[in-house]
Amino acid sequence: MRVLDVKHILCIGAGYVGGPTMAMIANKCPDYQVTVVDINAERIAAWKSDSLPIFEPGLDKLVASTLGKNLHFSTDVNANIAKADIIFVSVNTPTKTFGRGAGKAADLQYWEKTARQILAHATSDTIVVEKSTLPVRTAAAMERILHSGKSEIHFEVLSNPEFLAEGTAVEDLTNPDRVLVGGPETPTGQKALDALVEIYAHWVPQDRILRTNVWSSELSKLAANAFLAQRVSSINSLSALCEETEADIREVSRAIGSDSRIGPKFLHASVGFGGSCFKKDILNLVYLCESYGLHDVAAYWEQVVRMNNYQQSRFVAKMIASMFNTVAGKRILVLGFAFKANTGDTRESPAIQVCRELTAERATLVVSDPKAIPNAKNDLPDLTDVTYEEDPYKAAEDCHAVAVMTEWPCYEKLDYQRIFDSMSKPAFIFDGRGRLDHQALFEIGFNVYPIGRPPLSHLD
Ligand code: NAD
Ligand code: UGA
Repeated sequence: MRVLDVKHILCIGAGYVGGPTMAMIANKCPDYQVTVVDINAERIAAWKSDSLPIFEPGLDKLVASTLGKNLHFSTDVNANIAKADIIFVSVNTPTKTFGRGAGKAADLQYWEKTARQILAHATSDTIVVEKSTLPVRTAAAMERILHSGKSEIHFEVLSNPEFLAEGTAVEDLTNPDRVLVGGPETPTGQKALDALVEIYAHWVPQDRILRTNVWSSELSKLAANAFLAQRVSSINSLSALCEETEADIREVSRAIGSDSRIGPKFLHASVGFGGSCFKKDILNLVYLCESYGLHDVAAYWEQVVRMNNYQQSRFVAKMIASMFNTVAGKRILVLGFAFKANTGDTRESPAIQVCRELTAERATLVVSDPKAIPNAKNDLPDLTDVTYEEDPYKAAEDCHAVAVMTEWPCYEKLDYQRIFDSMSKPAFIFDGRGRLDHQALFEIGFNVYPIGRPPLSHLD
């Protein structure tokens, strides 16, 4: 295998992971040619334009630094497979919606299609890297497909899961906590792993590049997301208890997070976690456990997702109860729609469930967000009682309540007196993200309902 002189990198899948990851590799490794391909021609055209298909702070500069030099975007998947020495596969692996495992298992159809395409079009020995998040032992299936033909070509399948978070992708890729690479414990597997490590070693210190076997690498990705989501669900479960007991979730978070064994991160109570991966990856883990007969382990992790659904419904229930047990005919400003700040991504955003539950109660909604309105429109195409307005001041006019769904920093700086003055009274604010100054809002005249803290109400 000519693994030590790898120079042509290909990434299949130009999404939230493929685009930024390859832009970083191209930037840090001028001695490699990096091509990203996708079947979505619109997405590829956008990557080559001034208006990238995804919003990430710093990404436009990163892409512009190498675009057309050693970073290329193309829709010609087959021709680029033929040229590649190393292929990262970063296609989507959503939750299966049909057949066995529907609602839990990973849908591997896109993944398998790329394996067959690689087999059909590779012209020389190739390293195939799983970048997508996959069930444990997927590499074995990939290997079987790749070696199923008559071809003399040798493929090595490695696992290299991605840990970037949206909104901080460029930062995370520049300075990762760790890069995880898993490979077969054979001489050719280890040689392929060396070639992969060589790429990251251009900018990541060696002690942050962790080498494991393939299965540990695949499982560690699911486990990392499960642990992070579990922390959010744990703190959210306690936020419900705080609201009953006058304990303050911010004080509780600080108190437990100060224990160095626990640490302060991911203890911010909220309306719930969103994003394309936490729920999908935990359900994938649950399905895997069930398929190995580990039913108690499956039930343990499934509870993390259940708690998240509960937190979102609980938020709506509190809104209705506080607004005199009805929101029918009331106008509500949904402030933020992205699943977190600094992204336009709305996949699994808690705002989706909250909007659906509120419209089921016959509320009229105005959705505002600095980056996510196009995606929000796609998420709620069937809801007629929803309008969209980027300007939060216009959106707030005549509203009875504000529901804060995303912690956009710009929302902390809004003129809430102006917003209050334009609203119907009594005016309510339900802070699903806990970043606003609740006392100041109360003093303006709002009835304030934070998560995990007692309400500040003028109505008692
Ligand atoms: P995405 O949906 O944004 O992008 C996937 C892309 O793959 C799409 O543009 C799609 O058109 C393309 N694609 C699908 N089949 C193809 C084929 N046969 N040939 C060429 N292109 C094809 O998904 P994403 O958010 O980038 O996630 C990709 C993977 O990375 C998933 O497994 C996800 O779990 C994982 N992941 C995502 C994140 C994140 O922050 N979004 C972080 C870490 C890991
Ligand atoms: C998450 C992980 O953090 C990444 O390491 C991983 O690569 C990625 O999933 C993935 O596999 O897709 P991401 O979903 O982009 O990244 O964003 P996070 O910062 O993890 O936030 C997820 C959700 O949890 C957001 O809705 C956020 O608002 C919420 N959250 C987070 C809280 O409610 N409280 C917290 O304390 C932290």
